[in-house]
Amino acid sequence: MLDILLRDQTTGKNILWANSEFGAEEIKFEQINLIEPRWKKIREHQKQRTRDRAEIFTPPEVCEIQNDLIADEKNWQDYIDAKYLEITCGEAPYLVNRYNAVTGEIIPINLRGGLLDRKLKLINNETKTFPDWINFTLRAVKSVYGYEFQGDNLFLARRNVFETVADFYNEKFSRKPNDDFLRQVAEIISWNIWQMDGLTYSPPFTDNANLFGGANCLIMDWKKNEPFEFAELLKGGHR
Ligand SMILES: C[S@@+](CC[C@H](N)C(=O)[O-])C[C@H]1O[C@@H](n2cnc3c(N)ncnc32)[C@H](O)[C@@H]1O
Repeated sequence: MLDILLRDQTTGKNILWANSEFGAEEIKFEQINLIEPRWKKIREHQKQRTRDRAEIFTPPEVCEIQNDLIADEKNWQDYIDAKYLEITCGEAPYLVNRYNAVTGEIIPINLRGGLLDRKLKLINNETKTFPDWINFTLRAVKSVYGYEFQGDNLFLARRNVFETVADFYNEKFSRKPNDDFLRQVAEIISWNIWQMDGLTYSPPFTDNANLFGGANCLIMDWKKNEPFEFAELLKGGHR
């Protein structure tokens, strides 16, 4: 599935490193083992990324407080479909909380408070049949979005969402999910957690990018099953 998690659906290529070491190079499959989370990076490297890209990650207790404030749907099925976007998502701690993004401490599944964690917890509690679980889980994954400039963060955000779904599957059914299901999950993630320069709405380093034209990033309208430009939403479009 890792090849799917490296795909950029706007460019059709792999996502780019977009950091000071590799610049605009694509992340190659065989380079995945070079990617490490911020908490593992040496202090000097962390500082440089803070200077370059304002990279500072949010601890789970802060994500938890903010996430508590935003769910107001009336029934659990509506809550599953409620759409959330983590802008400049880093390793996506507001969506999924597998570990403390600051310290690296592993968080047990029952204590995770990310927006997708909450949805999957509900699905595990409310669904009675396997097809229902699959259906609601795919809907939940389609409902959460994030974008990020730096490719290593983006890859980790994608992997965190992917692993979270596998964790909740295992929690519910006490076994590993099958490859077909995981491939569907990875495909959705490759659209919903995407690489974008939030200042231009285009992939990093894209020439002639502009706010509402040029090479804007594509995301998926899952109801119509067709891609559209993210920048359209900012013109007042609604999906
Ligand atoms: C303060 S961190 C927040 C990360 C995460 N949301 C969190 O709360 O832990 C900001 C993130 O924005 C990313 N970033 C910086 N400039 C960006 C840009 N122009 N477009 C998209 N992301 C950007 C950085 O790479 C970094 O991961």
